[in-house]
Amino acid sequence: MAPLHRPPTSRALSSRTPSNILPSVVALSFLALTFLVCYKVDDFAAQTKTVAGHNLDPTPWHLFPPKIFSEDTRHARTVKIIHCSYLACRYANNTATRLPLHSAVSTHQCPELFRWIHHDLDPWARSRISMKHLDESMKFAAFRVVIVEGRLYVDMYYACVQSRAIFTIWGLVQLLRRFPGMVPDVDMMFDCMDRPTINRTENKDMPLPLFRYCTTDAHFDIPFPDWSFWGWPEVNIRSWGEEFKDIKKSSKSSNWSSKLPRAYWKGNPDVASPVRTELLTCNHSIKWGAQIMRQDWDQEARDGFEQSKLSKQCNHRYKIYAEGFAWSVSLKYILSCGSMSLIISPLYQDFFSRGLDPLKNYWPIPFDNMCESIKHAVDWGNDHLSEAEAIGQQGQNFMESLSMDTVYAYMFQLITEYSKLLDFKPTPPPSALEVCSESLLCIADEKQRQFLEKSATSASLVPPCSLNRAGSDSVYSWLQQEETRKAM
Ligand SMILES: *[C@@H]1O[C@H](CO)[C@@H](O)[C@H](O)[C@H]1NC(C)=O
Ligand SMILES: *[C@@H]1O[C@H](CO)[C@@H](O)[C@H](O)[C@H]1NC(C)=O
Ligand SMILES: *[C@@H]1O[C@H](CO)[C@@H](O)[C@H](O)[C@H]1NC(C)=O
Ligand SMILES: *[C@@H]1O[C@H](CO)[C@@H](O)[C@H](O)[C@H]1NC(C)=O
Repeated sequence: MAPLHRPPTSRALSSRTPSNILPSVVALSFLALTFLVCYKVDDFAAQTKTVAGHNLDPTPWHLFPPKIFSEDTRHARTVKIIHCSYLACRYANNTATRLPLHSAVSTHQCPELFRWIHHDLDPWARSRISMKHLDESMKFAAFRVVIVEGRLYVDMYYACVQSRAIFTIWGLVQLLRRFPGMVPDVDMMFDCMDRPTINRTENKDMPLPLFRYCTTDAHFDIPFPDWSFWGWPEVNIRSWGEEFKDIKKSSKSSNWSSKLPRAYWKGNPDVASPVRTELLTCNHSIKWGAQIMRQDWDQEARDGFEQSKLSKQCNHRYKIYAEGFAWSVSLKYILSCGSMSLIISPLYQDFFSRGLDPLKNYWPIPFDNMCESIKHAVDWGNDHLSEAEAIGQQGQNFMESLSMDTVYAYMFQLITEYSKLLDFKPTPPPSALEVCSESLLCIADEKQRQFLEKSATSASLVPPCSLNRAGSDSVYSWLQQEETRKAM
């Protein structure tokens, strides 16, 4: 058996001569080491929190089903997590860091609605924002974003539903690309779920700064553009620029008199929204002049979203906006149709809805007597065709002025003003990871990647609009009007 006495031949290479033991041992140890490393790497990957939601629990304040990831095997997932989280930004081109911070001054003023930035940040105008503020608001945050010298770092605390986190953070990364060398160092807490949480009464002694997609006048939460401006792949909504263009185009395909003389709403009524529940009772085209349609997202997804195309929903003279569980991203698409928007008295405001003027670019509908009020608006509009058309047109014009230029400028001005309030120098916490366009495209699934790529931006040729510091009179008068409207 033992071929020790045989002279070595080519066949003997495969036999176990003493001189062959060493390579085997080496190979074996290498294998063992590889296993150990793999195991360790696996372990490491299993502890790495990603913006896609790997290794994160849903926000405890708003639970949702755990995420399902597209990677087939544990190994594929490990490789993806390690690659996207630790390597993807290393080799990325980061032009922003090479530029000194500069503040080009634009000659054109930002739109009126930017004055709300002062209102939203006013709670910290005197106290300023300390690390203690952030430590406290962390308890309500899903993630933290720290920008230092044009690089962006994210510390994930909880998973966000669907792809909200990826798309929100993508928006911030695009902002850095758009205004290279201009975005100041900053440290911000974000929540990505719907409802505001920082109650003004309960937190009056120490207002907590927390960014989210909407607020109310009873909350300190700071409104920030929502993820859908960059896309919402789960419901096939493309970036705002693409959607607006198509909606506007289709809205012009029929003239006002040939649009259906009724009020239309299509959406999901099962979102614990009292407004939407009540709205279902108005579904009668003759009695209430309204057509209320149920959107079945699962069915739509199976049918390839043919029926839910936003640009196919501009055939009515009147379009109803009803809040969902909180504010709804649908507002911008509804206003874009150029139909007269019937907005049912909203409780929540997003960053731009505060720029709307009742009877100028929409028609307000009170919650009480909702169906009668819808009917009244429809009858009035059908008796005053050109006036109704003008209100619809003004709504569309308002949305057109809210181009991505404006959205980025708003983010820029909000972040800049916020950064002035910080009383410390932002540094990324040890648990934060750098995030860049490449790392987001890397961690995204196939469909998300397509949507992200389409909403990528490039450096702006002009500086952002300049913020008018003087007077928040218009904000003050808006708040007064709100008070009066509520009292009525
Ligand atoms: C980085 O920039 C260089 C030069 O501008 C370019 O050739 C290269 O393709 C870029 N790499 C990536 C990953 O974008
Ligand atoms: C804020 O807190 C106060 C006091 O606990 C409460 O009465 C009020 O309803 C809360 N407001 C909101 C909007 O939740
Ligand atoms: C509106 O469109 C309809 C149908 O296409 C057409 O018959 C009508 O003349 C148009 N009205 C106006 C005012 O252009
Ligand atoms: C509203 O009424 C129309 C026409 O009767 C119907 O097709 C539709 O399903 C109704 N909508 C809801 C939400 O029940």
